[in-house]
Amino acid sequence: AAGAAFQYIVAEKKGAKQNVGLIRLNRPQALNALCAGLVREVREALDAFESDPRVGAIVITGNEKAFAAGADIKEMQNNTFQQCYSAGFLDEWDRVSKVRKPVIAAVNGYALGGGCELAMMCDIIYAGEKAQFGQPEILLGTIPGAGGTQRLTRAVGKSLAMEMVLTGDRISA
Ligand code: COA
Repeated sequence: AAGAAFQYIVAEKKGAKQNVGLIRLNRPQALNALCAGLVREVREALDAFESDPRVGAIVITGNEKAFAAGADIKEMQNNTFQQCYSAGFLDEWDRVSKVRKPVIAAVNGYALGGGCELAMMCDIIYAGEKAQFGQPEILLGTIPGAGGTQRLTRAVGKSLAMEMVLTGDRISA
């Protein structure tokens, strides 16, 4: 994939055999908040790696401070229900969960809201010491709408999932 073509991510092939597709979220000034452009670029990079027969697995990562601090709050704050529903808000996000090659989330720093949901869409989460997972949507008066309520329940059990979704409290790796 041509990394130079992307604004919000870096996509490149790694490893001795160049068979690992690495997607690094690269919007550090916004803690990798998942604006529409970033999500579109992730989808495009996934499409390219999925159709590249030399790629065997894909890694999605961020930086030491943030995997991703969530959906882009500034971008979505004025959305109405009608707009979200009719335009299929978050539809593109699902691409990650439909990739047929193994996808690994390499997480350090904040994985909050949509960032936590993005990590959970991956097949495996490999988390560092500084990883912080949380669904703080409730603090903004919204809900984890990209699968968080369901995937978190499967990952950590109902009780802790309810606690995290209802309080916004974070957990470590
Ligand atoms: N959407 C848009 N911008 C975001 C963002 C998000 N989800 N999370 C962080 N940013 C931006 C901040 O607005 C800030 O940009 P600015 O300097 O232009 O205002 C920049 O990223 C750095 O964030 P800042 O809050 O200054 O960093 P911090 O280290 O003090 O705090 C967090 C880090 C993660 C605790 C804090 O950014 C936060 O709570 N973010 C929102 C998390 C959230 O609610 N996610 C769920 C969204 S549904």
